[in-house]
Amino acid sequence: MWLNKKTKPAASTSPEIDLDKVPAHIAIIMDGNGRWAKQRGLPRVAGHHSGMRNVKKITMAANELGVKVLTMYAFSTENWKRPKEEVEFLMKLPQEFFPLEIEELIQNNVRIRMTGWKEGLPDYTLKAIEGAIERTKDNTGLILNFALNYGSRKEMLVGVQNMIQDVKAGSLDSTEIDEACFSSYMLTSDLPDPDLLIRTSGELRISNFLLWQLAYSELWFTDAYWPEFTEDLFLQAIAEFQRRGRRFGGI
Ligand code: IPE
Ligand code: IPE
Ligand code: MG
Repeated sequence: MWLNKKTKPAASTSPEIDLDKVPAHIAIIMDGNGRWAKQRGLPRVAGHHSGMRNVKKITMAANELGVKVLTMYAFSTENWKRPKEEVEFLMKLPQEFFPLEIEELIQNNVRIRMTGWKEGLPDYTLKAIEGAIERTKDNTGLILNFALNYGSRKEMLVGVQNMIQDVKAGSLDSTEIDEACFSSYMLTSDLPDPDLLIRTSGELRISNFLLWQLAYSELWFTDAYWPEFTEDLFLQAIAEFQRRGRRFGGI
């Protein structure tokens, strides 16, 4: 509806967005599902379910603004520490999410991808996400990137181990290991670094998410729990991003 216009018209309280300065890559730490549920006297998993239902809305808003990549932190390498039942519930969400949303995502030219380790994920989880990746592989719009079984320290360690192997094998010269080379060993090697990181739920930390890639990202936090994160808050984050001066170490 606001495509082809320079700014998104302010609907009621929504801030104006300059469509020429939309962040290319937005990463979101979708946090607070458990507390959202607790606040309502519901089991934690009800919060995860509600959180899942919020993903499409924000994806569509991002797509409409012309965001290129939306990375959603869905499950960390540390989240395996949670009770077995909760982990199992989370692992079953993709097989509910994709059948429910895939048609609309396809209609909107969204491409699904995943950043994380496939090893360790149950077969049904992998099947759901790989099916969605396959069905959307030719789409050219927004990349909806799920960080699933992802941890940044592991990503960097594995990257370093792979570099050492390649040096030993003779396919990499150790003197060529610069930032671009290091980036190419990250799981996100084909993506631009995030311009904007959003974390919900009031926690002010990174929780092992994209440590290398976030070096110069703008950080934006909200107290809202993920299930109650609205399109309006999303626009507020982008509007704030557009007011900031990114210097990358310069002046
Ligand atoms: C985020 O919500 C979802 C995942 C980490 C999978 P949480 O489950 O962490 O919710 P809180 O932080 O306990 O409220
Ligand atoms: C980060 O949230 C991981 C995801 C949102 C998937 P956590 O709830 O796991 O992070 P901590 O434990 O509060 O740092
Ligand atoms: Mg949490």
